[in-house]
Amino acid sequence: MGLKHSSSLFLFILFIFFFLSSRVCSQACLKTCGQIPIKYPLGTGSGCGDSRFTRYIKCDPDQQTLTLTTHTGCYPITSVDYTKQIIYVTDSSMSTCACTRPSQGFGLDWDAPFSFHDDTVFTLLDCSVDESPVFKPLSNSTGRVSLCDRQSSSICNFLYSNCRAISLINLQESTCCVYVPLDLGPSFEMDLQKLRCSSYSGFYNLGPAQESHPENWNYGIALKYKFNVFDEYPAVCGGCERSNGACGYNTQTSSFVCNCPGGINTTSDCFFLYNSASILLPWFSTGAWMMYPLSWVVIWTVMSLP
Ligand SMILES: *[C@@H]1O[C@H](CO)[C@@H](O)[C@H](O)[C@H]1NC(C)=O
Ligand SMILES: *[C@@H]1O[C@H](CO)[C@@H](O)[C@H](O)[C@H]1NC(C)=O
Repeated sequence: MGLKHSSSLFLFILFIFFFLSSRVCSQACLKTCGQIPIKYPLGTGSGCGDSRFTRYIKCDPDQQTLTLTTHTGCYPITSVDYTKQIIYVTDSSMSTCACTRPSQGFGLDWDAPFSFHDDTVFTLLDCSVDESPVFKPLSNSTGRVSLCDRQSSSICNFLYSNCRAISLINLQESTCCVYVPLDLGPSFEMDLQKLRCSSYSGFYNLGPAQESHPENWNYGIALKYKFNVFDEYPAVCGGCERSNGACGYNTQTSSFVCNCPGGINTTSDCFFLYNSASILLPWFSTGAWMMYPLSWVVIWTVMSLP
């Protein structure tokens, strides 16, 4: 057997090995969706992540987009801060400094495992001063009192004076209302039809130096999630992720599943895979496989092919 022959044979076997291992099955739970890393409690499909999130968060593998679905619509997730436990989403119907759009509003489902983050500020635009419930009539019916956050009224000010898109449509600044999530009520609804406002803007992480620059605000919605009542990250999932697995659950029994590279599922982590690989790899590289009769049967078969 010449050297040239045996090295091409080795490549052939290697090829078969990798071909089989990549074809047999791949990891069911993706660890990224587009540019966004996916970690517990998020998942890319049924059986991945935490079951409470599966209904709301989906990855479209073709579009490479991660989306949040609520009863008011479907919203692209722009980033996830896993340390602070915050999901950032955008809403294409939301108005920004560059563009005003009509909107129906934004709402979270009552049983969703997340809520508005305190950093989120909503600004309701073009609300009917006579009909919107954010301008409540006085009991002696001599006028209306605003339920909007008065201390933040400068936000309306900056939006109206520094954003061309808003100044152009000639809205009255008195119809603008800053509305913080605490005021949204237990159903977490921002139903613009009920509120009698035609559009809204949402932003988060408004630094003190940035307040007067609406063109630089982070437009979108920040949502805070919790792992459970005690907000503890499940220890078993930590081990699974450290071993390059993706945390998931059994769709029938709801019990914890660690989805390992190659598609194998375990109840703890994927370290055993690397232990077995560390046995197999030296076995290949030292040529120990030559000691096994089966290897030679394979080689002999391949060599005797025409
Ligand atoms: C492994 O777990 C994932 C996620 O729960 C599931 O989609 C997949 O079908 C499981 N694979 C096997 C081989 O059981
Ligand atoms: C109506 O009520 C408001 C607030 O309670 C008060 O400031 C105002 O003076 C009242 N107007 C009349 C005419 O009583």
